[in-house]
Amino acid sequence: METAADVVAAAGRVVALTGAGVSAESGIATFRDAGGAWAQVDVADVATPAGYRADPAALWRWYADRRRAMRAAAPNPAHQALAAIEARVADFVLVTQNIDGLHQRAGSRRVLELHGSVEEARCTGRGHATPWPDPEPGAPVPPLCPRCGARLRPDVVWFGEALPRATVEAAWAAAADCDVLLVVGTSAVVEPAASLPRVAAAHGAAVVEVNPNHTPLSAVADHVLGAPAGVVLPALVEAAWGAGGPASPGEARGRI
Ligand code: OAD
Repeated sequence: METAADVVAAAGRVVALTGAGVSAESGIATFRDAGGAWAQVDVADVATPAGYRADPAALWRWYADRRRAMRAAAPNPAHQALAAIEARVADFVLVTQNIDGLHQRAGSRRVLELHGSVEEARCTGRGHATPWPDPEPGAPVPPLCPRCGARLRPDVVWFGEALPRATVEAAWAAAADCDVLLVVGTSAVVEPAASLPRVAAAHGAAVVEVNPNHTPLSAVADHVLGAPAGVVLPALVEAAWGAGGPASPGEARGRI
């Protein structure tokens, strides 16, 4: 822990890549852990274009339920510690596979959402983007696009679909130019996100993994902190910068 904290404290440019594990301590089930989302429901039904075509109403309802749970959840100490790191280092980018918005709610500012967000929907006609609509009694499910009347779908990335290009490019550029890449709470089996730490490592960055379980990235990581993120990340912030607590974002910005 001390060595990893020294490496982070000395870094000018830090990238964090997060996955579902960072939100586990907020009560949001991960995908592949025991009892996770993919044990409850078939991936093909809710995370592929074919699943949407087969039953758009069921898929919409699944995301509407998840969105409700995500909005009811609160950011945990891991999200807060990542926001604290952003306030401490000169250049910080948070790349997340999560769609729950908890990083932003914890105060993270530079957030790249590789897999979209449950706050947005888009239409299956011309791709019009729209905020996730509030459910209205008697309205069709899925709701219809306010601009063109086509069915809406969640603005998230499903298997077989491309990730948003500008977001991917920004994430890859940040990883290729960082001193430290923190990888937190991801099983690192879904591409292209799983490759991001390797990109950083190939460009000379130190990779610090935070995950209670072994992943394919553990062998690549320079430091493996094998405990829950809500425990490890606040301890890392304290070890790196002392117990004085995180700088306020304003303080840090004044310093940069
Ligand atoms: P996974 O469910 O595959 O992996 C969650 C990871 O979090 C595992 O490695 C756990 O060991 C770890 N974990 C669990 N609790 C933790 C904690 N308290 N602190 C730190 N780590 C913890 O989730 P992702 O890697 O995010 O994509 O999955 C990647 C993508 O696969 C998701 O974005 C989603 C899914 O299918 C799509 O749906 C397109």
